[in-house]
Amino acid sequence: MDRRQFLLGTAGAGALAAGGYGLWRAADSGRAGRDPIELQVRETSYTFGADRPETAGLVSLADGAPPPVLRLKQGQPAHLRLVNALPDYTTMHWHGIRLPNAMDGVPYLTQFPVGEGEAFDYVFTPPDAGTYWYHPHCMTMRQMAQGLTGILVVEEAEDMGFDADVPLNLKDFRLGDDGQLLPYFTPRGAARGGTLGNVLTTNWQVSPVEDVPAGGLVRLRLAATDTARIYQLVLPDVPGRIIAWDGHPVREEVPWPTADAPLALSPGQRVDVALRMPDADGVELAVVARLGFGQQDMVRLRTAGASLGRHMREVPVLPANPLPVPDLAKAEMQELVFGWTPDGSGADNGLCGTFGYSFWSIDRTPWPGDAVEGVGPVATLKLGRSYVLRLRNESPNAHPIHLHGLVFTPIRSNRRTLATNPTDTVLLQRNEVIDVALVADNPGDWAFHCHVIEHQKTGLAGYVRVV
Ligand code: C2O
Ligand code: CU
Ligand code: CU
Repeated sequence: MDRRQFLLGTAGAGALAAGGYGLWRAADSGRAGRDPIELQVRETSYTFGADRPETAGLVSLADGAPPPVLRLKQGQPAHLRLVNALPDYTTMHWHGIRLPNAMDGVPYLTQFPVGEGEAFDYVFTPPDAGTYWYHPHCMTMRQMAQGLTGILVVEEAEDMGFDADVPLNLKDFRLGDDGQLLPYFTPRGAARGGTLGNVLTTNWQVSPVEDVPAGGLVRLRLAATDTARIYQLVLPDVPGRIIAWDGHPVREEVPWPTADAPLALSPGQRVDVALRMPDADGVELAVVARLGFGQQDMVRLRTAGASLGRHMREVPVLPANPLPVPDLAKAEMQELVFGWTPDGSGADNGLCGTFGYSFWSIDRTPWPGDAVEGVGPVATLKLGRSYVLRLRNESPNAHPIHLHGLVFTPIRSNRRTLATNPTDTVLLQRNEVIDVALVADNPGDWAFHCHVIEHQKTGLAGYVRVV
């Protein structure tokens, strides 16, 4: 992309983002009792670069633009009205947010799918600040491949004092030479690591340039919202620190990634990074994704203006979120096994999209489908009790395992040293066993699945019941 195209591109996106910013702020609207924030799911088209034809059949919450960054405030009620303008069913899920079960957006488990022309009101108060995201949970494979994934920022009660806040939504698209979407999934991909896209984007742009203040402290919010890709990220070589992991301020330091040891960010995960930008004007630094062959700049940060002269020591310690603390001495252990399935028949997801086959399972049982009645939970936890879940991967593929509604902390692995930071999604590497500790403090039926959507949709799904 040359500079002129970039300017044209960001001018458009910026105008939308600026307009959207006010619109989405909980402080301005969307409080309980006031007008809801309306999120209209719609079909749209978009051009992924001047050298490409326009792509039709995308899905967003805006016309000709990616789904906006939603900004809510910690501890303040939010009211998000999902309006479905698609000729298809959908729901919306608020990934990583601890909220009442009925607001979780999981079809048949917590709500009925939302049909064309229908609306659903999501009302909740986010208890935790940080970087989260949203995506549909009905027609998940199709609508996420069509682009419906967005970043949800829950702002701290107080301003953290960064000079720039840069949400970066990392997502692949699978496009043919004609610029149109290729099949969203493949049996080959579903049975292995998932079907990767061929156009890697950040905020729906290929290697966008973001202007940030020279000498400033910048907060990057990277979210891996692709359906399959595990990003291997290298951060620029400037003073910086990883300040939050999967939403929550880090408790244990996450090492700064390098070319030899990139940071693995798997589907569903987020990382917040504080950077101290160079003093000179016009310096470009990239966040790089290492690929099997070569690499790609996911974003280029370009310094602008006179140096603000900030210091790394001015990076704030993010206030801890009000998370429950597991009592390891009293925690009961339950094991969950992820692997292949002996049963190859497809699931029944009712109105929410079904593949014709299953490959994966939890405890050797493939998920029979969202719409199948009378399917029990993979685990039943007592409200208020502490547990250790032993997550055992018996397969040679990696699985980002995600639990809704609760936060858990990985405490040990059989294969590596883990940073024990609270999370909602943990990457299980091949043949890895990870113990995670949690407090079952939120009642309800909580979806539990691999976030490689082809794995989720071909058996690696279930739910955990907290009563
Ligand atoms: Cu981000 Cu059940 O999903
Ligand atoms: Cu989720
Ligand atoms: Cu998986």
